[in-house]
Amino acid sequence: MNQETADIAILTENINKRYEQVTAVKDISITVQKGELFGLLGPNGAGKSTLIGMLSTMLRPTGGNAHVWGHDIRSQSTKVRMSIGVVFQGTTVDRKLTGRQNLDLHGRLYGMGRKERNERIEEVLRLVELTNWADEVVQKYSGGMIRRLEIARGMMHHPKVLFLDEPTLGLDPQTRNHIWDYIRKLNREKNITMVLTTHYMEEADMLCNRIAIIDHGEIIALGTPGELKSELGGDIITLKFPGEEDAAKMAEKYNGNPDFKEMTSSGTTVRITSTDGERAIPELLQMTAELGLRIESVSLRKPTLDDVFLHHTGKNIRYTGPDNSKSRRGIRHMMKKEK
Ligand SMILES: Nc1ncnc2c1ncn2[C@@H]1O[C@H](COP(=O)(O)OP(=O)(O)O)[C@@H](O)[C@H]1O
Ligand SMILES: [Mg+2]
Repeated sequence: MNQETADIAILTENINKRYEQVTAVKDISITVQKGELFGLLGPNGAGKSTLIGMLSTMLRPTGGNAHVWGHDIRSQSTKVRMSIGVVFQGTTVDRKLTGRQNLDLHGRLYGMGRKERNERIEEVLRLVELTNWADEVVQKYSGGMIRRLEIARGMMHHPKVLFLDEPTLGLDPQTRNHIWDYIRKLNREKNITMVLTTHYMEEADMLCNRIAIIDHGEIIALGTPGELKSELGGDIITLKFPGEEDAAKMAEKYNGNPDFKEMTSSGTTVRITSTDGERAIPELLQMTAELGLRIESVSLRKPTLDDVFLHHTGKNIRYTGPDNSKSRRGIRHMMKKEK
């Protein structure tokens, strides 16, 4: 094994998953380095869970292959499973058991001895600050506490790689912030390689070292959050006009002007990309005055990952709502198939 492969946590080679109606994952080839916090960002139905399902050996690929921590997901699934922890999209802890019992059950499934289990349970409970709740049934936990317990469970057997599928789905902003802190802590202090999926752009932006933007089963952009945003070429200025004709007139006249990277109109607004937004605004005001147009408002902002997604796909990352019943059924179905 040379140095380069020794640093690789996950390597996928043209991995894909076809269902009868849809190809959920299309020939994805990515590399995740050891220690990275890698994000898969994409809308509902993009193929994120399917990719995680294959990498965690719950689903068999239709084509291509992947290695996780050096192990082949097709022929060394047990070794892969021992190297990874998974926090699934839907809740999978047993609500009738206590937090401690859930963790203990998981430790037994991984063949951990009693002493090792007990020690590790205390450790992972401390990690997610649930020590005081350990002997309460999960039914009494809040949504955020359940997620923390699931992260603790994912960590029980000392995984090298932790997969987190939509870790903050449906949580309120404050709880989400809290979960982000645990994720960062595990990644930085415990040096756990992480792959997280999300459709929240700010989550990917705040947490991830690198992000793969995924849509319709394909990677459409990959890089650090900074790289992805700077590819758009600077600041985004939005001019709002009283009428749609005004916006169209402005874009028609000045699109292609070398001072701006891009100028497009949509409804009553004109969107301009510029390498130096502060300087571009006076010039734009001058232009509208020359056309005899009135402006209702002007805004200047740095691009977000939503702009990146819009740039590559022509649409916003819209969220159409969780379907937990389906995803939970999906997981049970996957587990059964593997036996
Ligand atoms: N078991 C399945 N059978 C058929 N189609 C599926 C199955 N699981 C997922 N899909 C389809 O594959 C696509 C990707 O789904 P998924 O990986 O769950 O997306 P994401 O996690 O990004 O929301 C969707 O179109 C979904 O309907
Ligand atoms: Mg999903």
